[in-house]
Amino acid sequence: MIKKVGIVGFGQMGSGIGQVAAAAGYQVLAREVSDELFKKGLGYITKSLDKAIEKGKADQALKDKIVGNIKGTTALSDLADCDLICEAVIENLEVKKTVYKELDGLCKQETIFASNTSSLSIGDMASVTKRRDRFVGLHFFNPVPVMKLCEVVKTLDTSDETFKTAFSFAELVGKSAVTAKDSPGFIVNVLLVPYLLDAIRSYERGLATREDIDNAMIMGCGHPMGPLTLTDFIGLDTILYIADIMFEEFKDSHYAAPPLLRRMVNAGYMGKKSGRGFFDYGKK
Ligand code: CAA
Repeated sequence: MIKKVGIVGFGQMGSGIGQVAAAAGYQVLAREVSDELFKKGLGYITKSLDKAIEKGKADQALKDKIVGNIKGTTALSDLADCDLICEAVIENLEVKKTVYKELDGLCKQETIFASNTSSLSIGDMASVTKRRDRFVGLHFFNPVPVMKLCEVVKTLDTSDETFKTAFSFAELVGKSAVTAKDSPGFIVNVLLVPYLLDAIRSYERGLATREDIDNAMIMGCGHPMGPLTLTDFIGLDTILYIADIMFEEFKDSHYAAPPLLRRMVNAGYMGKKSGRGFFDYGKK
């Protein structure tokens, strides 16, 4: 049974996962490399809760409960007695493998490891541990407190028991869970990434203005954001990274990144987080 949840990497995604877990009553221990980064992650949570309180959608008692359930540490060894580890560090297989190798030696035998990767192979990460059967993907979506989905990813080695525990954890933190195979992009990104790349290609070819491309999809299809704004929101570097992994894996032109995307990333236009992507968000 899951009681204590360890979060490794307390950035935008890790803090979102920590927030929904703490709201569901789990004890959350978040590990960041410095106190400042832990405080930054906690700041995302308090900001989103303050906004909800302002709108009358949450109260101080809920905020106190969530914040009270979250503790921080810089020592990976403090996570040794967690029942579930949700890892949301940088999307780099070697970095993730290093984290898992270390965690595998520290954590109790029953601890389940779950990666929030959007495109890397869960099986590859599990292969550096001695707990391949207790390893899954739990892929949440940004912003985690708002988006309703969690993809639960089963590798060739994930045991039924681990999968069931992870699936019910996703549901207990308020998400609709779907089952996906350990294949690049899982369900959502296999469909979403080619759509975003096609929108960029269309803009690059001069099909329409960026505003009209976005408005067409908002007004015509009822999407909450147009594809170029969504690319800015997710991060151009993240979309490029995922596209490159999927292209490498499938060798399918659907996943080939348009030259404009690569040029923008190389020029430092990462989207909302850098202040500029397809649209301008003011200097960062
Ligand atoms: N934390 C908590 N709540 C947030 C939030 C955050 N970071 N951002 C927005 N919200 C809440 C707002 O408080 C608001 O709540 P109420 O309805 O209760 O008042 C609600 O979300 C709507 O927000 P806004 O009114 O500020 O703005 P909006 O209507 O434009 O919605 C949005 C913002 C929720 C981000 C919406 O535009 C949206 O759903 N966009 C699409 C997001 C998406 O597709 N995400 C998935 C990306 S893919 C991914 O994450 C995975 C990957 O592997 C790449």
